[in-house]
Amino acid sequence: MNILEAMQRRHSVRQYTDRPIPSEVREILQREIDQCNRESGLHLQLVCDEPAAFSGAMARYGRFTGVQNYIAVVGAKAPDLEERAGFYGERVVLLAQQLGLNTCWVALTFSKRKARFTLDEGEKLVLVIALGYGATQGAPHRSKSMSQLTRCDGPMPDWFRRGAEYALLAPTAVNQQKFLLELTGDRTVRATALRGGYARLDLGIVKYHFLQAAGQENFTWE
Ligand SMILES: Cc1cc2nc3c(=O)[nH]c(=O)nc-3n(C[C@H](O)[C@H](O)[C@H](O)COP(=O)(O)O)c2cc1C
Repeated sequence: MNILEAMQRRHSVRQYTDRPIPSEVREILQREIDQCNRESGLHLQLVCDEPAAFSGAMARYGRFTGVQNYIAVVGAKAPDLEERAGFYGERVVLLAQQLGLNTCWVALTFSKRKARFTLDEGEKLVLVIALGYGATQGAPHRSKSMSQLTRCDGPMPDWFRRGAEYALLAPTAVNQQKFLLELTGDRTVRATALRGGYARLDLGIVKYHFLQAAGQENFTWE
């Protein structure tokens, strides 16, 4: 499965089977997480065989069952922490999808108190990403249209259209899709977070999707 197929097939999954993640799969995820941490300065942590974070009232309210693994998204407080968390977290999410796992970004419906993670000086937990073998593969979300989420004067280049199509597949908090992608020059793109909770985190996720589908060689971010 290539990364474009992973973006097409990824849907949030909230019910998991008790199948553990095999050690060789954990190692591949851990290597990618280590690489993301080196590149981003984040402190992403893979937590396996830990059911407590998803065993309380909040997880029940969110209808999560069987979650035993998650990625704790941790980083030092900074103005761009949320956007980086989204960008690099989605990179791990899409690798997980390629490895046959399912995921769900979770900001609210888990127990922060019971979750297992470490914080270094100045760091905070942004949110977690549930991980495991889903009881289902989830379902496609309803999406706003291309014309609502993009702006482009004149003919739309193929690479921009492709990037935007895959950006529409990105997970966003409560499926809010509060972002705008604008072609501002021949090969420059402005990505803006509109008002909404977690909109900056969503923007990082959306930018990762756009970049993978549009191709790094075709444009630069404004
Ligand atoms: C930043 C962020 C926070 C989220 N928080 C929660 C959450 O607390 N509980 C939950 O059930 N889903 C949560 N989600 C999952 C979204 O509801 C889901 O991504 C959205 O409905 C789109 O569906 P899809 O992921 O299947 O495409 C979150 C997603 C994002 C990106």
